[in-house]
Amino acid sequence: MRNNYDFGLVGLGVMGRNFILNVADKGFSAFGNDLDAEKVSALIKEGGDTEKVNASTNAKTFVEALSTPRKIMLLVPAGKVVDIVIESLLPLLDKDDIIIDGGNSFFTDTDRREAYLQEKGIHFFGAGVSGGAKGARLGPSIMPGGDREAYQHVKPIFEAVAAKYKGEPCVAYLGPKSAGNYVKMVHNGIEYGLMQLTSEIYDLLKKAGNYSNSELHQTFAKWNEGRLRSFLVEITSEILSQKDDLTNGDLVDQILDKAKQKGTGKWTSQNAMDLGIPVPSIDIAVSMREISALKDQRIKADELYDRPEVASMDKAKLGSLAERSLFFSFIITYAQGLHQLATASKEYGYELDIAEIARIWRAGCIIRAGLLGDIMQAFQEDGSLSNLLLSPRFVEKVQGTVDAARELVAYAAQNGIPAPGLSNSLTYFDAYTSSRLPLNLIQAQRDYFGSHTYERLDREGIFHTEWEK
Ligand code: 6PG
Repeated sequence: MRNNYDFGLVGLGVMGRNFILNVADKGFSAFGNDLDAEKVSALIKEGGDTEKVNASTNAKTFVEALSTPRKIMLLVPAGKVVDIVIESLLPLLDKDDIIIDGGNSFFTDTDRREAYLQEKGIHFFGAGVSGGAKGARLGPSIMPGGDREAYQHVKPIFEAVAAKYKGEPCVAYLGPKSAGNYVKMVHNGIEYGLMQLTSEIYDLLKKAGNYSNSELHQTFAKWNEGRLRSFLVEITSEILSQKDDLTNGDLVDQILDKAKQKGTGKWTSQNAMDLGIPVPSIDIAVSMREISALKDQRIKADELYDRPEVASMDKAKLGSLAERSLFFSFIITYAQGLHQLATASKEYGYELDIAEIARIWRAGCIIRAGLLGDIMQAFQEDGSLSNLLLSPRFVEKVQGTVDAARELVAYAAQNGIPAPGLSNSLTYFDAYTSSRLPLNLIQAQRDYFGSHTYERLDREGIFHTEWEK
């Protein structure tokens, strides 16, 4: 058998199989490895020509089939499995071989693995891969981080397989250490936020405007042709026209309203708290998945409490409010995630180029959107921009839509329709753009009960007052 396959991939599940076939389509020979013999033979069959795509259940056969320095990508579940696979490969590898973890690994795990493998002369990369199964097959957005020099060996393959935006590959070396996994984690946090917002708009249109699924399908499809153009709006439109084979009704109506999660959104929120960066549109998206999981309790509570009768709103008026509110909240959600990235870059030494991140998010990934072109330009104009809301490019877009968000959030609150993503986005905006907040009172309270001291507006220094009379 040949021993010069260009690329190795461990984990031939849906993502792995699709990714390796994509690599082969681009003219690179690839070899797969999985403990499951069925997955191995399925890949060999689908690959067609074993000179181009081959696979084995045996780790030694797999490693020996690859040209050096070996480029081995892992597409296995995040967590312990990654460590187990690394341990099983290690005795078989040579110095300067490269392992790329393409899963949603937690970034500190990537740092630990990189340091561990460095001692053994192996280069380790964390590379976020976004786009689901179809993306893996036809072109994902790829977010690699790690050793810059070693990346040169992987670059031609990644650039060939990545999604293309107007011909430009949606992949870039993002920075040292776990930069790739970190950026993918925040990508997923933004993904959670945008999905939550889309679901709230869907709910409001249905409850307040009596939109049928077919009208919703058309509305989202129309929005997808305008400034809201994005993968999530596009698939929402398609979902809303999907018929159900079992009932002949619309499938969306039969789906249980409990959303699962694998943890990347929660990690984004947790780490944002650690960094001291507010990302409430992402936090609430995580909380809403948690609230959704409490279905039994929700049913009981629904019986205990009355809620206001929903006052219907004119369809066209509601449609326009919804489009503007969604656009506004999408901007706010990206702003929060990117603020987190800019801060993490300083804190962890990632040296991230946010414009470049926006560039590689324009195609292939789940949060791809027309808006990312403007985001890219905003950060190209000012690389040190800490928050998108400070970009002159965004003032008009936000100013022109915030009033619709105000009206819709107020309407949702008055009519008892939960819209916490929309309302958190609005509240974040109102707070972030307030030069004066009432947190002076919190400082006074802290000083009152705990002598925690406070600063003053009118003079320098640290002050304490004996408040009790
Ligand atoms: C992507 C996605 C993907 C993620 C799923 C499921 O970019 O392709 O982010 O990596 O695993 O979206 O995530 P949850 O199960 O947490 O919703």
